[in-house]
Amino acid sequence: MGRVLSVASECVPLLKTGGLADVVGALPGALAAQGWEMRVLMPGYRAVMARAEGWPELWSTPDLFGGPGRVLAGEVAGISMLLLEAPHLYDREGGPYSGPGGDWPDNDMRFAALSWAGAAIAQEGLTDGWRPDLLHAHDWQAGYAPAYLAYAGSSLPTVLTIHNIAFQGFSPVSQLYALRLPPEQFYPDALEYFGGLSSLKAGLVTASKITTVSPSYAGELARAEYGMGLQGVIAARAADVTGILNGVDTAIWSPDLGDNPYSAARPKGKAKARAALCAELGLDVPGPLAIVVSRLTDQKGIDLIPQVADRFIAAGGGLAVLGNGDPGLEAQLRDLAARHPGRVAVRIGYDEAFSQRLFAGGDAVLVPSRFEPCGLTQMYGLRFGTLPVVAAVGGLADTVITANPVALAAGVATGLTFHPTDAQAFGLALQRLIDLYADQNLWAQMMRNAMRQKLDWEASAARYAALYAGLVA
Ligand code: ADP
Ligand code: GLC
Repeated sequence: MGRVLSVASECVPLLKTGGLADVVGALPGALAAQGWEMRVLMPGYRAVMARAEGWPELWSTPDLFGGPGRVLAGEVAGISMLLLEAPHLYDREGGPYSGPGGDWPDNDMRFAALSWAGAAIAQEGLTDGWRPDLLHAHDWQAGYAPAYLAYAGSSLPTVLTIHNIAFQGFSPVSQLYALRLPPEQFYPDALEYFGGLSSLKAGLVTASKITTVSPSYAGELARAEYGMGLQGVIAARAADVTGILNGVDTAIWSPDLGDNPYSAARPKGKAKARAALCAELGLDVPGPLAIVVSRLTDQKGIDLIPQVADRFIAAGGGLAVLGNGDPGLEAQLRDLAARHPGRVAVRIGYDEAFSQRLFAGGDAVLVPSRFEPCGLTQMYGLRFGTLPVVAAVGGLADTVITANPVALAAGVATGLTFHPTDAQAFGLALQRLIDLYADQNLWAQMMRNAMRQKLDWEASAARYAALYAGLVA
């Protein structure tokens, strides 16, 4: 029964660019069920400040890295939110990390400010008397929070969760004073990182405990292929690193596939949703309809899709893609759709409601990631009986049971995993998908297995609670 200050750069339903927001938004409810009261501190971006009208001010400072800052408190969708208002840092037109000209050049200051406010609140408490027993920082944006606390001599326990080690919050060493970091800590075992500074490294060397979002990724992070320069830091702290799998917010991600989904060989609700989706997109697909809902980046292996699609489509498959990101990948996908009218539909953009229709109507969801700390879309697929075809890395490997002969005989298969992440292995998996789909009884069995998988937050929230309890005691 303690209090936790969660510090993060995004949170559903206020602002989301990826899975981080889903997780930060789900944790308070999941942990409340374990007896922990969590408040979420997030920047007051222009896009979210309208929500804070009339909210009381619970903390303020005249100088938050170049201007005044204050924290307004209120409740959004059952979450106790603390919005950090600092117009000189956050009142801008554009996304949380970038504007029309690319990444904001002062991102290190913007998120150091978030971390500073988090550390200050952790030490001073809020003016309503609330004071956390523990600070939980998420990713590089909150990485300096444990560091500020540690360097101020605070003994407040801290947890740092790595959602993606690819983003490290790098700054040149010339920023040391501007970022309010102690110069005597600039050495290799502390703040120094390849001659500069990294907010993620700062958090990794100072947090009481480190978690990441799947057990497999926790193991991968200590290896050069996945650690992205931080593998040595992770390995040095191996005793304090654990992997806790993300859950699914089942209040948001629940299949509504109509009545009696198990009534026929192919669940009826799925057939209806599939037909509606095909009509919406002008698709006519005899074989499995595969969907993709993703940021279009190198991490996600999206470049492999055009390489494997022609064969998959020739064998009867179809493809519906929703995503945005890398302009080169967007162009490749548009080109693919143009080459396969009626079989491939591509929508470039970000659209939560459409994504739900894709999960509901698709037969399979493709996640060919090169690395994946946890991944949520394969789990959303499982919830909707949309069988995942995933690279066997990180959280993807931890959540999908591949349809090998043993798993099929035991009646536990939920999808397909492949390794390594290349066009050959991915192509073979899609061929296998075509074969599985041809056996509709087997397919329906796999759908049932997938939909039965327990993916809510209960077990993982209990693990966070145990971690917190160990630190606060
Ligand atoms: P990551 O955080 O690395 O992008 P995750 O799988 O953890 O990967 O989370 C991605 C989240 O963002 C999921 O909730 C997914 O449904 C959502 N998402 C990604 N791209 C889009 C899009 N174009 N439109 C709607 N939702 C999207
Ligand atoms: C990151 C990872 C993703 C994970 C999400 C939430 O964005 O890329 O794999 O699911 O964080 O933890």
